[in-house]
Amino acid sequence: MKQDLLTFADWTPEDMAQLLELAQTIKQSPGRYSNVLAGKSIVALFEKPSLRTRVSFDIGINKLGGHMVYLDSQAGKLAGREDAVDVAANLACWADGIVARVFSHSTLQQFADAAHVPVINALCDTYHPCQALADYLTLYEAYGKVKGLTLAYIGDGNNVTHSLLIVGALLGCHQIVITPPNHEVDPTIFEKAQQIARATGADIKQSHDVSAAEGADVIYADTWLSMGDDTPLTAIKDTFMPYQVNEALMQQTGAKYVMHCQPAHRDLEITGSLIDSDCALLMAQAENRMHGQNAILTHLLGA
Ligand code: CP
Ligand code: NVA
Repeated sequence: MKQDLLTFADWTPEDMAQLLELAQTIKQSPGRYSNVLAGKSIVALFEKPSLRTRVSFDIGINKLGGHMVYLDSQAGKLAGREDAVDVAANLACWADGIVARVFSHSTLQQFADAAHVPVINALCDTYHPCQALADYLTLYEAYGKVKGLTLAYIGDGNNVTHSLLIVGALLGCHQIVITPPNHEVDPTIFEKAQQIARATGADIKQSHDVSAAEGADVIYADTWLSMGDDTPLTAIKDTFMPYQVNEALMQQTGAKYVMHCQPAHRDLEITGSLIDSDCALLMAQAENRMHGQNAILTHLLGA
């Protein structure tokens, strides 16, 4: 039975901990994994732009001995030419796995149903699981543990927030999600994270007040406007500016580190000076994208 990676929501805490451990092992001993994808080809299909995800999958697959075929939004445009199910079934004729960044989570579900090879979510409107794995790997490296830490996410409740909630809950990380009113996370995903958290001992909360981040170990920021959201910045800037992650907020909360999945918008959701400061983990997160994804690929497709 092939396994897909669309959300992590159906994983057990034990499976999640093992995957995090595998990512560390692959990072520390890459030579041991240089042939796990030997002779295998992965199609990476992107409906939206990408720097980190595209390059880290391409180079990462190469390091595992495999080969990646990139299809961009022009070549791989799904809408209009043929149905998503037919695209996926065709790709599975040649490819051993499909990595896909799509607008709608339902497209991924169609891919997963139609393709007899593993499908990996490289970001959709609702989740960004590869990002969350890299982020918790980064926190593990910074603290030597994830369980019992407190992560405060501040900004728009979005795909990145949802995956941080799910993966963090599985790993026992306390989380507080702080958003402006009307920008909260999906209530069903929040409840799912709380349900997982009851088993792992994590405390998962929401607030509209940035002071709720006081005492957090790490503050996490993401763009106020995700790809595919055409709202003009001017329409939301005043609402979000009090949620900017800056030096004053770091001091107020006492957090040691700041994280951001990138692309970052300097002096909007996070100050440029904070990105450039010693407390920023952004480049460690970016580097760990590849190690986390290589663990996923090894788990789903490894020989
Ligand atoms: N963090 C992230 O997914 O970056 P890209 O959009 O550049 O892939
Ligand atoms: N929430 C952002 C993440 C980018 C990596 C977006 O979806 O655009």
